[in-house]
Amino acid sequence: MTSMRSRQPKRVYIETQGCQMNVYDSGQMLEILREASGYLAADRAEEADLLVLNTCSVREKAFDKALSRLGRWRQLKADRPDLRIAVGGCVASQEGRHLLARAPFVDVVFGPQTLQRLPALLDERETTGRAQVDIRFPAIEKFDALPPPQRTGPCAFVSIMEGCSKYCSFCIVPYTRGEEANRPFADILAEVWTLAESGVREVTFLGQNVNAYQAEWGGELRDLADLIRYTAAIESIQRIRFTTSHPIEFGDRLIRTFREEPKLAPHLHLPVQSGSDRILTAMRRGYTTLEYRSKARRLREARPDLALTTDLIVGFPGETESDFEATCDLVRDLGFDQSFLFLYSPRPGTPAAALPDPVPEAVRHERFGRLKALLDRQALDFSRQRVGETVSVLVERRGESDPIALSGRSGTNHWVHFTGPSDLVGTMTRVEVTQGLPNCLKGRWVGTEPVRPRGHDRIRQPAA
Ligand code: SAM
Ligand code: F3S
Repeated sequence: MTSMRSRQPKRVYIETQGCQMNVYDSGQMLEILREASGYLAADRAEEADLLVLNTCSVREKAFDKALSRLGRWRQLKADRPDLRIAVGGCVASQEGRHLLARAPFVDVVFGPQTLQRLPALLDERETTGRAQVDIRFPAIEKFDALPPPQRTGPCAFVSIMEGCSKYCSFCIVPYTRGEEANRPFADILAEVWTLAESGVREVTFLGQNVNAYQAEWGGELRDLADLIRYTAAIESIQRIRFTTSHPIEFGDRLIRTFREEPKLAPHLHLPVQSGSDRILTAMRRGYTTLEYRSKARRLREARPDLALTTDLIVGFPGETESDFEATCDLVRDLGFDQSFLFLYSPRPGTPAAALPDPVPEAVRHERFGRLKALLDRQALDFSRQRVGETVSVLVERRGESDPIALSGRSGTNHWVHFTGPSDLVGTMTRVEVTQGLPNCLKGRWVGTEPVRPRGHDRIRQPAA
């Protein structure tokens, strides 16, 4: 069995917990391992030579969850001592060597900013015979070491910054991913350009706070609005998105970009967390509900078709019924579409974890249920209101058994399902919405939009 395995390419199984950033990082890990050591992806842990757990510690019991997964992998390693196990992501960053004390069978512990060192750490593990730990924050080194962009469809994520310097009182991210670090402007554009040439039609700029992005280029300080304008100038890029943003750095320039740049999708994910000023202050978010409302109003003026989505936390310490009601009012007034709702979970080491006055568990759960029902109702209303509209859909896939069953996303970030010629995959097309469902839209194909053929890209100067 072992000798069979050694003649075949090595296989890695990566399990991802948590957010979009982690999904992106897992893709990078696979690419780095493929390039450095020829690893291929395994579909199951049982088939792999290397197991990687990419952890997330934003939610409750993250460490326990990671340990429970590792416990199962320990059995596999007991049967196959050559199996290697690596743990990355935010739990690894937070726990470091402590993780080895709890799970001594783990071979490598690495952080979100040292994933580029994974092949080297695995080699060091072999040469020294000892487990390796590297959870430093050399963010720029990470960007420099990233492999060339790979794509699997017409949409691609492009990381533009790492970490977060906002230190919201409840959040672990600044401690696990480090302070904000920006990727050079020219490197991002070069990556977008490569992606465009390989057939990518939609780019999503990714980072914890993408609207904090700043970098010098051509003697000027550039920001996210510049990145959007320069990317929009590449003709074959047809749609641009970004996530996640923070309300305090959401300035007029970016709002104007929603008005002026039609390639910028009419969807914005702008976490508000709470509708109560008292709670926002305790969360150290740095804005008031009035300021958030004003930004939402100006965004809607700039882009009337905008779908606004958000993150909300229920049960923050000291949250009263009237604070919670204020959150519900804000949700109703701003008509949020499909949003993320979190139960507050104290993260060890964050300032909020030391706050008095926890909300009793039963109350937290009851509020969560009420707000979830409101958000679901609103998302369904939003979908139903689309019926009769013709939306632009970038077709991402066809059905496995039915090649004319097509799916893609609208500008407002809704999955749209319809039937049409299977060669529409990878193109932007138009669909008339016939049904609005809770999590998606159904529609009728009404024709293609003009798309320039591949390889005919050219950069036009962005409008001043
Ligand atoms: N960059 C984003 C922003 O501007 O707020 C936040 C990124 S954070 C990883 C994703 C979401 O997780 C947050 O918006 C928040 O709603 C939720 N979250 C973070 N820490 C949490 C905690 N301790 N308890 C519950 N939810 C939490
Ligand atoms: Fe976390 Fe606040 Fe940054 S929620 S990721 S510290 S903006």
